[in-house]
Amino acid sequence: MSGGSGGATRLDWLAGEGGPLRGELSVPGDKSVSHRAVMLGALAEGVTRVTGFLEGEDTRATAAIFARLGVRIEAPGPGERQMHGVGLHGLRPAEGPLDCGNAGTGMRLLAGVLAGQGFDSTLVGDASLSRRPMNRVVDPLRRMGARIDTAPGGLPPLTIHGNNVLQGIDFELPVASAQVKSAVLLAGLYARGETRVREPHPTRDYTERMLAAFGWPIRFSPGQAVLSGGHRLRAAEVAVPADFSSAAFFLVAASVVPGSDLRLRRVGMNPRRTGLLQALQAMGADITVEPAGEQGGEPVADLRVRHARLRGIEVPEAWVPDMIDEFPALFAAAALAEGRTVVSGAAELRVKESDRIAAMATALRSLGARIDETPDGAVIEGGRLHGGEADSLGDHRIAMSLAIAAQRASGEVRIRDCANVATSFPGFVGLAAGAGFGLREAAAR
Ligand code: S3P
Repeated sequence: MSGGSGGATRLDWLAGEGGPLRGELSVPGDKSVSHRAVMLGALAEGVTRVTGFLEGEDTRATAAIFARLGVRIEAPGPGERQMHGVGLHGLRPAEGPLDCGNAGTGMRLLAGVLAGQGFDSTLVGDASLSRRPMNRVVDPLRRMGARIDTAPGGLPPLTIHGNNVLQGIDFELPVASAQVKSAVLLAGLYARGETRVREPHPTRDYTERMLAAFGWPIRFSPGQAVLSGGHRLRAAEVAVPADFSSAAFFLVAASVVPGSDLRLRRVGMNPRRTGLLQALQAMGADITVEPAGEQGGEPVADLRVRHARLRGIEVPEAWVPDMIDEFPALFAAAALAEGRTVVSGAAELRVKESDRIAAMATALRSLGARIDETPDGAVIEGGRLHGGEADSLGDHRIAMSLAIAAQRASGEVRIRDCANVATSFPGFVGLAAGAGFGLREAAAR
């Protein structure tokens, strides 16, 4: 079954026979930061200007939802948004369901925002999002006083009833999830008293940092955040840094393709995002980090990556949350490395846009890799890959990771169902081909 957004367009890629990757490139804006910039800009007082906004389907879906909730949003140019904030209590009800597309971040964070409104809303998503667990946000929000209906099994659609008095909560997250943490904190803006969130492992802290930048009093440190309701958000300027998760595909590709020497400009280096860098360096990658100051309150750096012989490693479980979106790319690196790579403590991968452990194991096996799945990870024996056909299951990160693996396969690889790459990385094929990837689009068979 396709998890692709809307499932309307089916697109395959033909990948392989790439040359060395060379030159300099900039990847698009950060998805997590772009979602949050739209949300806080909508709820702030005044005009928020966003630059570097990710023009992907996920983040555009979030912006379209706020437009339907009565927020005027202008797009003066690509990657630019002017959000005419309506204040914390200025959203208006929309007719019909609000479509989050493929975006788990959109749906989960919106659940927190909408729980605090004076009207009812229904959140829907595409086939993939409709299979993803929502009780992780619904349970704490209900404990705060929200009334939310789900489909059986805690799946979308979510109907979020308005006109509830929310109470602050002291919530210990059962899984490390920035989305759950953020949903609870956003509901906390509307709650009486203090909302406190504790995490088993620290996760990305963009919500906390951006709330502070929008003038909301908040205390946070790795693994913990505390705020109280009853304040105001003030419009801000948000300069979205380039997405480390998008840069990750090039870090791996240039590492595995002989002769490569690639520079990635001004990549967001929030330490809660850069676990893959650590993992690749432990595998022997040749990556130089040249700090380039800050952008939008986030550290950014130019990254120079050259081909290197990679060795398999055991990925420490403590690194998992800092590289949660990068495992598909790591699996591709591991399949081409010398020796064995062991991933554990990563069961969350099974509830992403696809079951990413099963998706990568099946796809790489069909190209000749030796991989054993475990419930919370995989054991990957590095070696050679051959050409053939592999299915991305409509998951953007699986598609791009298979495109990397294909660069070192001995024959061409048809990667199925790739249209969904537009959710997070519009223009990937052009940028990758320009850097030297053997990669082109093909009509689905
Ligand atoms: C995100 C958090 C992560 C990540 C997702 C984006 C965010 O999900 O996988 O791509 O923007 O908060 P979890 O928090 O569910 O791990």
